[in-house]
Amino acid sequence: MSVTEQQIATSVLVIGTGGAGLRAAIELAEQGVEVLVLGKRPRADAHTSLAAGGINAALATMDPDDTWQQHAADTLQESYLLANPVTVRIVTEGAARGIADLERYGMPFAREADGRISQRFFGAHTYRRTAFAGDYTGLEIQRTLVNRAVQLGVPILDTVYVTRILVRDNAVFGAYGFDLTTGRRYVIHADAVILAAGGHTRIWRRTSSRRDENTGDSFRLAVLAGGRIRDPEMVQFHPSGLIEPENAAGTLVSEAARGEGGQLRNALGERFMTRYDADRMELSTRDRVALAEYTEIMEGRGTPNGGVWLDVSHLPRETIMRRLPRVYQTLLELQMLDITKLPIEIAPTAHYSMGGVWVRPEDHGTDVDGLYAIGEAASGLHGANRLGGNSLIELLVFGRIVAEEAAKYSIDRQSQHRSADAVAEARTEVDALLASDGQENVRALQRAIRDTMTARAGVVRDEAGLLAGLSELAEIEDRMTRIGVHPDIAGFQDLAHAFDLKSSALAARATLDAALERRETRGCHNRSDFPDLDESLQVNLVWSGPGQVLREAIPPIPEEFRKLMRDDISTEGKLVE
Ligand code: FUM
Repeated sequence: MSVTEQQIATSVLVIGTGGAGLRAAIELAEQGVEVLVLGKRPRADAHTSLAAGGINAALATMDPDDTWQQHAADTLQESYLLANPVTVRIVTEGAARGIADLERYGMPFAREADGRISQRFFGAHTYRRTAFAGDYTGLEIQRTLVNRAVQLGVPILDTVYVTRILVRDNAVFGAYGFDLTTGRRYVIHADAVILAAGGHTRIWRRTSSRRDENTGDSFRLAVLAGGRIRDPEMVQFHPSGLIEPENAAGTLVSEAARGEGGQLRNALGERFMTRYDADRMELSTRDRVALAEYTEIMEGRGTPNGGVWLDVSHLPRETIMRRLPRVYQTLLELQMLDITKLPIEIAPTAHYSMGGVWVRPEDHGTDVDGLYAIGEAASGLHGANRLGGNSLIELLVFGRIVAEEAAKYSIDRQSQHRSADAVAEARTEVDALLASDGQENVRALQRAIRDTMTARAGVVRDEAGLLAGLSELAEIEDRMTRIGVHPDIAGFQDLAHAFDLKSSALAARATLDAALERRETRGCHNRSDFPDLDESLQVNLVWSGPGQVLREAIPPIPEEFRKLMRDDISTEGKLVE
């Protein structure tokens, strides 16, 4: 079969139209480096637009004692010592500049009467350091970055699905993909590739991601290119996801609701956080709040639909309308519920991949020359528990740094070797899927993966469940050899879903393998068969293929941060069920 492919060449190719990809592209364009951005979602509606409550930087606008060193200490502490101190330093020290960049691009931050940027409390931060725009912070950031990219004339093709990163002799030379509407194929030649295609939280049933985002694409693209995955088992379950309606299960209720004073209650009306973290209560770490909710539900104190109550109705109506407008609107739209009067029924929802593609902390380069990863696609900052608001600042800081590195890499290249075989392999893969006409339905298999991950690798895990998950996954992979793919007049979404499925299966396997290997309880990873933290497992786990998980040492924490941290890194009060 002969296929027409559109050939494009650029210096740096960015895969992903969310905040991380756009921030990198802006930096490249500002430096005069040719860049092209590809994405599978409309640029205005990339996943970043769903990020709600805020972005962290120790600006000290509300609490003058805050410092970037304290921000670093909080991040390390709450990561259960799995965050890489080098990554943490770079992000926290560079955070103020990240905010200044956004201001320069016109970001409308909420401000106090005297013009200072307002900052709110988010869980487990020592000070108020989360800047925001109502609870639409991610949406405003996305709009701001899209506007700046348009001003700079950055080309963005946001209907192109990337199926492969093209590699020869362990160096990238571009990517292969197809147009989601027309099916037109693309071969894009590039000196360097920045992977900013998100995480893998859509492989759980209740998730804050929409159906075609965070399907593990970054994992698959990186691994097939020769990269590895770090800490895939570390998946953050956000404490407040909606339970109903079923087709929107997991939709996020921002942590801002608790930051502004929202209270959690069980079906008996008890503020149950007194049992789990009496000091920090609703503003404890996400892993603790999510596990507390899970425990209440499992012990029979849950609500009728198997959740707990989040109540903001005691807050002044004006606070809700000004600082939680999206939560207000979302509940009206999805449940016709007025949160100024009634509590919200919530449960933990898969929210963020804290692990991701293995990258060097300094430049976010991967194992493959010229391939970089950023944002949720990357790993290193969050360890076993992410502080809310740290992901948005990470993409601002590393978007700039990675762009500089990729630009340098491109400029320094003397020559580039391409591979017709690599292109042919990518082409054949798409051809084979388009020719497939089996009985197995792609969407049903996606659902099967989500069911398995929910049952076997949720908030609490154990060996028997993880092994059962691996054997269920093997059955699903077997069924995947008999799928049918049928693009129609509406476009090539079915082909995209088939690739999403491949990515989800790979991401699920990496997660189950690493979760099995981490025989301890730490942060978001709760093993009921290993309820204690094991100091010998204060390492990152690096996955390079089925059953292949290695331990990687983490650099020591500098004294400058250590002295600002508490001593208690423990799981006490966690698995109390
Ligand atoms: O709850 C939230 O607003 C989410 C923020 C985050 O995950 O950083």
